[in-house]
Amino acid sequence: MTQRVYNFSAGPAVLPVPVLEQVQREMLALPGVGASILEISHRSGAFLPIIEDAEKNLRKLLSISDDYAVLFLQGGSRLQFSMVPMNLLGPGQVADYILTGSWGNDALKEAKKAGETRIAWDGKAGNYDRVPRREELNLEPQAAYVHFTSNETIQGVQFAAEPEVGDVPLVCDASSDFLHRPLPVHKYGLIYACAQKNAGPAGVTVVIIRKELLKRSDPKLPGYLSYDVHAQNGSMWNTPPTFAVYVLKLVAEWLLSEVGGLEAMHARNKEKARLLYEELDRSGGFYAGHARPECRSLMNVTFRLPSEELTTQFVSEAKKRNLHELKGHRSVGGIRASIYNAMPLAGVEALRDFMEEFRRKNG
Ligand SMILES: Cc1ncc(COP(=O)(O)O)c(C=O)c1O
Repeated sequence: MTQRVYNFSAGPAVLPVPVLEQVQREMLALPGVGASILEISHRSGAFLPIIEDAEKNLRKLLSISDDYAVLFLQGGSRLQFSMVPMNLLGPGQVADYILTGSWGNDALKEAKKAGETRIAWDGKAGNYDRVPRREELNLEPQAAYVHFTSNETIQGVQFAAEPEVGDVPLVCDASSDFLHRPLPVHKYGLIYACAQKNAGPAGVTVVIIRKELLKRSDPKLPGYLSYDVHAQNGSMWNTPPTFAVYVLKLVAEWLLSEVGGLEAMHARNKEKARLLYEELDRSGGFYAGHARPECRSLMNVTFRLPSEELTTQFVSEAKKRNLHELKGHRSVGGIRASIYNAMPLAGVEALRDFMEEFRRKNG
């Protein structure tokens, strides 16, 4: 198959075509280098500008000040579930967790192994269909940090703005909505995001950490697990995932030059999501959205059909129309359409048209 399909995968996910084309063009030999990105030393004069530009582009896109370090790590976001408490949660301290879905729960599970935790809010009773209101948060003012998941990839529930947590450092798992809109980074202590949804391929995880928090990394931590070690070594303590960093750099360049920055990206993302949610709202319950309207994700649109039979039929008929990877996560079922930054508007329009037609035939 050489024709590209519309790929609604939750991750690894669709990448911008111009980025894939550039990777293809440069695969045998990076311009001026004569070897591929897969074959050069991470300490070579060819790679250093690549990792530096990756960082520069991220700093530009998100207006990240010098008060923050930007790290390129491995181990995915799941390693961050452990590294966050191992570095930031000292003995005798407690960390607050806000739970709005599956990933927040998994983060908490790992944190419990490293230290003392509290639950500041849990959306379980409502089957994780919303984020908390400010007054519902039960925060510990002395907590080492407050952790939340800005977009719950499985439930399709997203914070429109970060929770207000006062002076306690705010830690965010931004894995599935990183770079989808501008972020007031100064409000955060730490942001982490695996790349394989909005920022690049699997293999690299971005960590943006307020430098002041690096002091908390215990020197006795194994080197790889210490944010301070990575920051002091410019993410070169060990060999970084060079190919993934290279693609991330290209994706960030695409956002800056072709899209025109994160305000423009956010506008595109809102428009794409609106098309699908309008169809949900028009469908008279045939498509039952999971998230409450005010907490709907711009990245992962989740909904159910009236029966398992219709769900299976929906997925298989969609595939015949080139609309792939629409099955919901195995833990919740239904349908999930992931419409990350690189999903073109035409893909979302094609899905919306298919949904209308399917509902007319089967509703
Ligand atoms: C919100 C969120 N957090 C964490 C993860 C885990 O990421 P990884 O597989 O890179 O460890 C995912 C992956 O889908 C995710 O969506």
